[in-house]
Amino acid sequence: MSATNRILVVDDEIVIRELMTGILSDEGFVVESASNGSAALQLLREKDDFVVLFTDIMMPEMNGIELIREAAKIVPSLVPIVMTGYATMETAREAVQAGAYDYILKPFNLSEIKMAVSNALERFRIMNENARLLELTGLFEISEAIASIREEKKLLDFVLEAALDRVSARRGSLMITDGDGKKFEIASSIGLPTEHPLHPGDIDNSISGIVAKDAKPLLVQNISDHPKMAGLTLNLPVQSFISVPLECKGPLYGTTGIFSSSARRVLAVLNVTEKTSGGPFTDSDLKALSIIANQAAAALENVRLIQDIEEGQREIIFRLGEIVETRSRETGNHVKRVAEYTKVLARHIGLPRPEVEMLGLASPLHDVGKVGILDAILNKPGKLTDEEFEIIKTHTTVGYDMLKVAKGPVLQVAALIAYEHHEKFNGRGYPRGLKGKDIHIYGRITGIADVFDALGVKRVYKEAWGLDRILDLFREERGEHFDPELTDIFFDQLDEILEIRDTFPET
Ligand code: C2E
Ligand code: SIN
Ligand code: SIN
Ligand code: SIN
Ligand code: FE
Ligand code: FE
Repeated sequence: MSATNRILVVDDEIVIRELMTGILSDEGFVVESASNGSAALQLLREKDDFVVLFTDIMMPEMNGIELIREAAKIVPSLVPIVMTGYATMETAREAVQAGAYDYILKPFNLSEIKMAVSNALERFRIMNENARLLELTGLFEISEAIASIREEKKLLDFVLEAALDRVSARRGSLMITDGDGKKFEIASSIGLPTEHPLHPGDIDNSISGIVAKDAKPLLVQNISDHPKMAGLTLNLPVQSFISVPLECKGPLYGTTGIFSSSARRVLAVLNVTEKTSGGPFTDSDLKALSIIANQAAAALENVRLIQDIEEGQREIIFRLGEIVETRSRETGNHVKRVAEYTKVLARHIGLPRPEVEMLGLASPLHDVGKVGILDAILNKPGKLTDEEFEIIKTHTTVGYDMLKVAKGPVLQVAALIAYEHHEKFNGRGYPRGLKGKDIHIYGRITGIADVFDALGVKRVYKEAWGLDRILDLFREERGEHFDPELTDIFFDQLDEILEIRDTFPET
């Protein structure tokens, strides 16, 4: 990067150009301005030291969003900021999606502009440093791969393998904290001798533990120079090793780091030893591993965050299902049981794993449409009149209408289930009277799970049925209410089903 931090201001109104130029020049920046997109692109081609682009959105010929896209092709590192009035706020958000880093609102506020510039410069600096470092060290590909992995175990395995490969070492491990701040466990290892397994040491008595506590990378070229450490590494057959922390800075999230009370958290420690050459590790090995550890820590935190969000969603879905059940005076365990039954049936009919999980998440919402049904009907102690039952039936379409507008695969599946869980294989169900395999497999599965559970529990309108009576009905309804294939699976898996029933009892 050149010494000048040149800023480009693009606006079709001269007043704005002059105002921005004045403010930014006073701040000591070199500023150039253009009144339209093509003049701006021309300037970007001529000088290679532009770092920040301020652009208007609504301009004749080329608008700000197009300019941002075109500018990125000429100067990829340019940090774009859009200038917008309240009227075009929505477009400003669009611009952010198109790659703008930030937006400032007209009329301008001096401190906002200063803040935007200083954030943009910091952004530029970090991006450049990272890019240069990765390029310099040839670690770019590893870094990309690390960032693309979505599963913790896979991520850790990949990181360890890449680390060993990078420094030509035969043996290594990744220790992660087990959460209580005292112990470590090996999350991934390569080349550990089975006769001398590296025991998950107490944090005070292992090198990983020391590295985790100090949050500093460690390169030991000759262990005998470190008498204290030598006592900790009885299993090490060689003299040289590297141990680096996977450290996360910044705001605390979750309780996963060992030192979760501090701002720096060590999520894991990467240990590498036994260079294939037999020689000691070098400073450049240490540097490469530190960079890998750095990328890995960010990726690990990401993966865990996503996992947490998914767990949060699961929680919300179950809670929602429970609320519905509570209104109809049933226990929350009903939705858990239905979820588990649907998973058993889905697995055995051969649905792929992700669909099985999806169904387990979505099925608790099958009756969500009951929220709209009057208490007097929903909780009526006796038999419903035909009119009342007609109203009850609307819980399928109401649930479907509620959920179908939601984004996300789980809620889409939930919508379908709400719609189809009362259809019958013989075509006599509701709301549409679908027949056979025209009923979606998710609907057929949830239908059978729902009825099995509804029969076995006491409702305001009926006593709980004994198992024999339920099974009799299931035999009768095979091919009538229920998909015959699923009914057979139900009977085949009855042991597992009953185990679930015992695990989540009515209270
Ligand atoms: P639910 O109580 O969850 O029942 C779900 C399904 O299980 C029922 O769907 C039905 O297929 C089956 N099921 C439940 N109890 C019995 C039973 O005693 N005998 C038989 N043969 N099947 C049973 P369905 O019939 O479409 O009912 C949908 C919902 O309408 C029920 O959900 C319940 O909330 C309500 N409902 C149905 N009948 C009555 C009733 O007589 N009184 C009241 N208060 N609610 C009723
Ligand atoms: C039905 O089976 O039609 C409703 C459930 C019941 O009445 O028990
Ligand atoms: C209810 O029927 O009120 C909730 C239980 C269910 O239908 O699965
Ligand atoms: C009915 O056919 O309505 C009663 C039995 C069942 O819902 O499966
Ligand atoms: Fe229902
Ligand atoms: Fe139900």
